[in-house]
Amino acid sequence: MTRLQGKRALVTGAAGALGQVICRRLVAEGADVVIVDLARDRAEALAAELGHSRAEPVAVDLTDFDAVGEALTAVQRERGVDILVNGAGGGAVVPFAELDAETWRTQLSRNLDTVFNVTRWVLPGMLDRRDGRIINIASIAAVSGGRLVRNATAYATAKAGVVGLTKALAIEVADRGVTVNALAPGAQATPGRDLDSAERRAALLDQIPTRLLGEPEHLAETIVFLASPAAVNITGVILPLDGGHSI
Ligand SMILES: NC(=O)c1ccc[n+]([C@@H]2O[C@H](COP(=O)([O-])OP(=O)(O)OC[C@H]3O[C@@H](n4cnc5c(N)ncnc54)[C@H](O)[C@@H]3O)[C@@H](O)[C@H]2O)c1
Repeated sequence: MTRLQGKRALVTGAAGALGQVICRRLVAEGADVVIVDLARDRAEALAAELGHSRAEPVAVDLTDFDAVGEALTAVQRERGVDILVNGAGGGAVVPFAELDAETWRTQLSRNLDTVFNVTRWVLPGMLDRRDGRIINIASIAAVSGGRLVRNATAYATAKAGVVGLTKALAIEVADRGVTVNALAPGAQATPGRDLDSAERRAALLDQIPTRLLGEPEHLAETIVFLASPAAVNITGVILPLDGGHSI
């Protein structure tokens, strides 16, 4: 299947555990990808794996609005972005009573400002072409208050901000050819999960009705669907990928 033939996708957090799987899937579906991440080495290695004719690495700190503008203006000079996947982020686990102001601000910046900074630079081109798909990776923490991952209030707050941005922007641009949706993943079977103790894994599965961790390939497939022609009339959706945890 090459549902995204001729499309250009920009993926943030692309060199991370989920981002790499997403990029591989997008390329397999015919899209070219811009691999955006703080980690230059990992971004370049993924671009080399996918082939430089199909994949372009961009190393930038997405919390810096001006730096993002500079990097993405260069990227967009010759060709626009059809599909934007905002995946950069990551959680800090700290009990609220011990949370310091710097960690709070860093969490909001890493998980919410990054989405604003990239979307703000990419959206105008989509509106000009009256064609665009924006897919934000929030978290089930935004929906279920972090029952799955306790002591991550700052992260849950930031991801709830992503949910708000998704819905508000979806309404704002709905009649201008751009859809905006978000995934709310529960625990995914990324390599980091291999560090779980048996007790931790059992406690996690007890919270998930299907008793299955999310498969990154399934998440990537959901992104391909939301970016495909079949999803043209789907916007403002916050889709839990959580094995029924949030029911
Ligand atoms: N893995 C899960 O179980 C899970 C569950 C729910 C939501 N999520 C969300 O999915 C996304 C990807 O998760 P993951 O497991 O692949 O995490 P990851 O840590 O493997 O990847 C995140 C990537 O984002 C990049 N990044 C972080 N801050 C950045 C910045 N300021 N500028 C540029 N790049 C930056 C990192 O370098 C990293 O490569 C995150 O937003 C995360 O919150 C993950």
